[in-house]
Amino acid sequence: MIALLAAIGIMSAMDQEAALIRDTIQEKEIVQVGCREFIKGTFEGVPVVFTLSGVGKVSAATTAALLIAKFGVDEIVFTGVAGGGKGVEIGDVVIGHTYLQHDIDTRPFFPQFYVHSLSKQTLPADQKLIARMKAAADRFFANGIAFPSLGILNPQVREGVIVSGDQFVGAAHHEKIVDSTKDVLPNGFHAIEIEGAAVAQVCNELEVPFVVLRAISDKANHEAAVDFLTFMDQVASLYSHGILKEYFQAN
Ligand code: ADE
Repeated sequence: MIALLAAIGIMSAMDQEAALIRDTIQEKEIVQVGCREFIKGTFEGVPVVFTLSGVGKVSAATTAALLIAKFGVDEIVFTGVAGGGKGVEIGDVVIGHTYLQHDIDTRPFFPQFYVHSLSKQTLPADQKLIARMKAAADRFFANGIAFPSLGILNPQVREGVIVSGDQFVGAAHHEKIVDSTKDVLPNGFHAIEIEGAAVAQVCNELEVPFVVLRAISDKANHEAAVDFLTFMDQVASLYSHGILKEYFQAN
């Protein structure tokens, strides 16, 4: 008897973060669910279901839940861009090992950042997938990736902490988040974005392995909006596609 191959879910928030992945999927079948389009097919020969969540934690959570409950994926890979936190530069990539939703605050009844369904403030990703994604990103960068006009000369790959909330973060807000998270995250955080920790919550609740890969598009500072747009335009999809290609080839 042939074992049925379950698919891997691939998610991004915005089209610019994943256009090359979408365009490379083979044997496409499109399934519309509500306002979202899910593309079933293969990527590097591996069965996948690709979709764009749209921006926001609720959008990301809805999409992750649909991938799992309706499409039966047995793993989720989220790829996109993020603002840089501690010790990371534009062009680096962060693979999340720990996730926190910086905009959850139900004090005085519960600790800040507390995820009620899981009784935790921080959530983990799957160690095996983190290691596989790190190896994939290392192989991608070994090809000598650089974007000198954007100051990206020697990009680094790191595993780290991703914080998420429903805001695009600039300088003043960044400082506030650093301050409010310092007790829970004594070593700080490395990427700040919108969807990752929402996917982490759904996948932890439903016990589906997942990993989030974030290319650093800006430093969540005064230049964040301009840097973000430039990176989205010139780099985001190349990184996502190049790293996921390595990831799926090793699958
Ligand atoms: N994604 C990319 N840059 C970001 C930022 N500065 N804040 C939130 N999400 C982001």
